[in-house]
Amino acid sequence: MNLKPLKFGTVTIDFPVVLAPMAGYTDAAFRSICKENGAGACYTEVTSAEGIRRDSQKTFQFLEVSKLDHPIAGHIFGKSVGAMVEASQYIEQLGTFDWIDLNCGCPVKKVVRRGAGAALMKEPEQIGEIVRAVKKAVSLPVSVKTRIGFSPSFPDHLTIAKIVEDAGADMIAVHGRYASNFHGGPADWEKLGEIKQALKIPVIGNGGVVTPEDAAEMVRVSGVDGVMIGRGAVGNPWLFEQIKNPATPVPTLGKRREVIETHLLRLVEMTGNTAQGRRCKSKYNPEQGACLHFRPHLAQYIKGLRGRRVLLQHLNEMHDVETVMGAVDKVLEQNQ
Ligand SMILES: Cc1cc2nc3c(=O)[nH]c(=O)nc-3n(C[C@H](O)[C@H](O)[C@H](O)COP(=O)(O)O)c2cc1C
Repeated sequence: MNLKPLKFGTVTIDFPVVLAPMAGYTDAAFRSICKENGAGACYTEVTSAEGIRRDSQKTFQFLEVSKLDHPIAGHIFGKSVGAMVEASQYIEQLGTFDWIDLNCGCPVKKVVRRGAGAALMKEPEQIGEIVRAVKKAVSLPVSVKTRIGFSPSFPDHLTIAKIVEDAGADMIAVHGRYASNFHGGPADWEKLGEIKQALKIPVIGNGGVVTPEDAAEMVRVSGVDGVMIGRGAVGNPWLFEQIKNPATPVPTLGKRREVIETHLLRLVEMTGNTAQGRRCKSKYNPEQGACLHFRPHLAQYIKGLRGRRVLLQHLNEMHDVETVMGAVDKVLEQNQ
């Protein structure tokens, strides 16, 4: 596919097909799996700027980074300029992030209700103020993740993109759906192309890429500088490598098992990692917590395989790695 290394500020993404931020999914364990399978860069799960400001224990676990993650963005949401600036400065001084990304597109009720995420698209000038202030406050590169609009009627897809660029952002990632559509329906890659045409800063396109052919088509239609993949990578982290090198074979059942086990074991390790003392206390031990958290990933890893339905019926009863892997083996045996 015709993509060059993407550079903005001090960041270079050699292969600009990146993992999207996804709350509940893109923790350090999953990011490492995607990176090992070809993802060019990744983002943290969305992290509350107010939570960082209030020193909330729950917030800091989202900022755990592994050495496999780089380049990685600390991805934050908030409404107030002050909170976004303080959170960005905090992230910069951690010394573990390559750039800072500002969320201006999350349509989830509890975020929008606070005037943050997608709600910022209703006040485009506030986006400009946040970007300008954050750029002034930190030396790391700053990007924005947004959408083509709040709804089809407002605002025009070029308005926010221009404000973001004029305010000094180094890069923009645009999800080609309206916030009013959440994550449903087709993404509008032509509008991504119009944004690409209108801006000088690099544009990463997002929305609806689930196969290597989709990635190539998004780039062909829009001319974007990079591709961001969300749900298409869940249970299918090999997608990045397949996009990079179309000759990559479909993973064997053995390879699938290896990745499932590695992912789960990393999640157990990560869940038990209290070294930084900032992980939230849980009523589950790390292995139980990891197995619970792993359920939506596992459901996708075994998608399309015989025996999946039976495994899913028992998913909530699997609280240790041995039981999960035993159930996985049973499914794989049925598909030899
Ligand atoms: C479960 C889930 C969680 C998400 N969390 C975030 C988030 O934390 N921050 C964000 O900017 N977008 C978030 N998104 C949106 C994705 O980053 C992406 O824009 C969207 O899924 C469209 O890409 P896709 O069609 O490749 O999945 C989330 C999407 C899903 C499905």
